[in-house]
Amino acid sequence: MKVDVLLGLQWGDEGKGKIVDVITPNYDIIARFQGGPNAGHTLEFEGIKHVLHTIPSGIFREGVINLIGNGVVIDPVVFQKEMEKLKPFGFDIRARLVISKKAHLILPTHRLLDAASETAKGKNKIGSTLKGIGPTYMDKTGRNGLRVGDIFSPNFKEKYDALVEKHLGILKHHEGFTYDLSELEGPWMEGIELLRGLIAVDSEHYLNEALKSGKRVLAEGAQGTMLDIDFGTYPFVTSSNTVTAGTCTGLGIAPQKIGKVIGIFKAYCTRVGSGPFPTELLDEVGDSIRKEGNEFGSTTGRPRRCGWVDLPQLKYAIMINGVTELSMMKADVLGNFDTIRVCTHYLINGEKTDRFPYDITDVELVPVYEDLRGWKADLTGLSSYDDAPDALKEYVSFLEAQLEVPISVVSVGPDRKQTLTNE
Ligand code: GDP
Ligand code: IMO
Ligand code: MG
Repeated sequence: MKVDVLLGLQWGDEGKGKIVDVITPNYDIIARFQGGPNAGHTLEFEGIKHVLHTIPSGIFREGVINLIGNGVVIDPVVFQKEMEKLKPFGFDIRARLVISKKAHLILPTHRLLDAASETAKGKNKIGSTLKGIGPTYMDKTGRNGLRVGDIFSPNFKEKYDALVEKHLGILKHHEGFTYDLSELEGPWMEGIELLRGLIAVDSEHYLNEALKSGKRVLAEGAQGTMLDIDFGTYPFVTSSNTVTAGTCTGLGIAPQKIGKVIGIFKAYCTRVGSGPFPTELLDEVGDSIRKEGNEFGSTTGRPRRCGWVDLPQLKYAIMINGVTELSMMKADVLGNFDTIRVCTHYLINGEKTDRFPYDITDVELVPVYEDLRGWKADLTGLSSYDDAPDALKEYVSFLEAQLEVPISVVSVGPDRKQTLTNE
């Protein structure tokens, strides 16, 4: 068996959580491969809305294992809160969850370092979610990190103290940055206790054995391609590989074992935090998309920046990820527009190109748009793609022709049921 991959093609919040939940019945294991509590994946069904940060989005489906891979970073405090929020649903969460021993831990001091670093950057700040993601991955690559496997070691506390000592040394250089670590440590240690009671596995063996025995695995990405540490709009990115290749390193899956790659994108585009965004709309059109799409961060509540869909950007993401099929989300949000704009090219120094440029942060870039007619309809009640307005079908066909990948799912609302398949 091969591992299918589902990931975001824009700057995150494309609707990954919703689609993972919708297709989970086709799988035995859902595995997160990178990121951490900077992610907020929203699921809606039966009138319930749920936001997941670390736990994979297959958790609500019976008989499915949810695996947190080695590429993920875990904050025990956020994790404990997430577990508690799932309690009222009445299922045995522990029986559905396994965690890699190699996943790294976010310490309270990682969060402090994140905040201190952003403060020091001033107007150049990344706009981090302040969950400690950057400092934790820095300790991972710097070979100082603590992993889930360490919590079972008799000298765990010593290891923890040594790393905290190091962090406090760095924090001393951030003049004027104040904090109370003792307040943060109690809940953190409680979270560690909770983690000790869960199933920790050698997830690379677990997954490869599962594949051998015929189990179907879906890898769930967090963030989006344009936030990838290598291929995103650096330095305004996150600290992990959010692209398909991240599945190999974040789960221990060999490249030839990758199957379908499902790329998720919105019918428009959003970004939260700082950094370049070629098609951003700083006018009332952008405001209207934000309002209609309820574009406020699932993790931080910050307003998301909104703009038209950007084909050079999507083509780039499709190339890097090897996307085999697309899901277009939030088509319902564009239901009020006479005209919908699609950026097909950029004008850079007077030259027309559909290549996403290296120096996007510095270069003067003018998006070139093609105008398509809007569908001017409420799509939220649709149950079949056949019944969709012609103008929506034209929009989908136009994007498919430009992107050269089929759009197999069109989403018309946040609920599980508001999902149309386009065969
Ligand atoms: P993720 O991080 O990629 O999982 O996406 P988020 O959950 O952060 O953000 C997507 C938001 O859009 C959530 O509030 C979803 O409930 C919502 N959503 C997903 N699909 C649709 C859709 O087709 N239409 C509308 N109106 N909302 C959607
Ligand atoms: P999901 O999985 C949208 C953004 C932050 C910031 C940058 C770096 O829900 O799509 P970090 O906390 O990682 O140091 O922040 O990345 N960011 C996201 N934006 N969705 C996310 O996750 C994000 N995770 C991080 O806003 O600009
Ligand atoms: Mg999100």
